[in-house]
Amino acid sequence: MAISSAQSSAEINSEFNNPNIARTLFSEEQIRERIKILGAEIAADYAGLNPLLIGVLKGACFFLSDLLRAIDTRVSIEFMAISSYGSSTRTSGEVRIVKDLDVAIEGRHILVVEDIVDTGLTLSYLLANLASRGAASVKLAALLDKHERRQREVKIDYLGFQIPDEFVVGYGLDFAERYRNLPFIAVLKNPEA
Ligand code: PRP
Repeated sequence: MAISSAQSSAEINSEFNNPNIARTLFSEEQIRERIKILGAEIAADYAGLNPLLIGVLKGACFFLSDLLRAIDTRVSIEFMAISSYGSSTRTSGEVRIVKDLDVAIEGRHILVVEDIVDTGLTLSYLLANLASRGAASVKLAALLDKHERRQREVKIDYLGFQIPDEFVVGYGLDFAERYRNLPFIAVLKNPEA
């Protein structure tokens, strides 16, 4: 295909300037600054406790990796995978552990790290499940809170940002596995299209 001199192939293939992105909600800079504050709070609260941070795949791995580097105290990490609503924007309400922890957590201080709390179905199940394994404490760090959609109450101990009830992508959040690689958080124009 011929490429006009005004538009390079890099521009045409740019995902970060994709026409289906309505607007940026949080820039890289805003995310970085917020995470720096959360990391300092977590480091102070958990000093000497060697907490286990549990990242919930896949969306939270971006937040987890940046948050970890903002926590200046001893920590360990683990991952879990939970199946909720796959590649649709609607939740089924079904929660299933697809990948469990590799370690016992009895007596450990657990901090679950999530990208978003939406209906709360996933997190209310997961937090109760972890608490039932004899953890010393179970808390939650979530980058985004879409509180309008809540069906089950979930306490977010460390929150990045409240967001409106719009379909957001980027910085780990996907639509049908797309857009996770956006370095910022954006609103999609028409997620159902
Ligand atoms: C997202 C998010 C939570 C869950 C929250 O995961 O990471 O796990 O949905 O939704 P809820 O509050 O309505 O239960 P998703 O199922 O999109 O998987 P992913 O992280 O692999 O994208």
